[in-house]
Amino acid sequence: MTLLRDRELASAFDDAARAYDLLTALNPGYTADLLRSARRLRLPGGGAGLRVLDLGCGTGASTRALLRAAPHASVTAVDASAGMLARARAKPWPARVCFRQLAAERVAEEEGPFDAVFAGYLFRNVTDPDEVLASVRHLLRPGGRLAVHEYSLSGGAAHRALWTAVCRGVIVPAGTLTGDGGLYRHLWRSVLAFDTAPAFAGRLARAGFTGVRVLPVAGWQTGLVHTFVAGNGSVGGVREAR
Ligand SMILES: C[S@@+](CC[C@H](N)C(=O)[O-])C[C@H]1O[C@@H](n2cnc3c(N)ncnc32)[C@H](O)[C@@H]1O
Repeated sequence: MTLLRDRELASAFDDAARAYDLLTALNPGYTADLLRSARRLRLPGGGAGLRVLDLGCGTGASTRALLRAAPHASVTAVDASAGMLARARAKPWPARVCFRQLAAERVAEEEGPFDAVFAGYLFRNVTDPDEVLASVRHLLRPGGRLAVHEYSLSGGAAHRALWTAVCRGVIVPAGTLTGDGGLYRHLWRSVLAFDTAPAFAGRLARAGFTGVRVLPVAGWQTGLVHTFVAGNGSVGGVREAR
């Protein structure tokens, strides 16, 4: 099962960028689920005075979710694909949002520190998730939080079969119609190859994250998509919104 990685993947996202928002708009719950995960960061005070990193921001759907969850936060949004970033930058944003073309593996410590990191549909795309998690821990302030929103299957046979049925019946045909069949076949296979939800939770704990929680999303993606919320271990960080 060959997956797209690094430059090849960025190039596939460059090509797919023009139809990306259309295809995600056809996915029931895409925006609401991202918002649900961003809210699970529980950033206090609407994010006032906080710096948040959106890792793999794409065309800005996850950035928009972060801003809705924490309207006063300053957001740095990074992505490896110039095409996806161009779509994001073309949208209206407050001055507290900035976009950078950077691979997740290359976000330097000077960009930080951040109070929170959000990664929407990124981790199953990276070559070495452990390397990126280690980097995220360095970028987070002590007590900072991570929320990962990802296609990470429950581990049950029914959810694996449902994912393949949806990909064969809807996702790959729709992606092929827009000329992006390769990327959407990658989506299908990368989800099957990626950690199940319990396995990714274990990966987070091994990377040193604390208080790891795995939360479901609603709708048809239940059992297919999860939110993973964790802290970077140290005390004295962002206090939870009540
Ligand atoms: C499925 S899209 C999700 C975009 C956005 N977060 C959202 O929720 O709509 C995944 C994004 O991750 C980016 N990406 C994949 N691998 C990356 C990496 N190693 N570093 C930075 N961005 C990466 C892709 O270019 C793409 O824009």
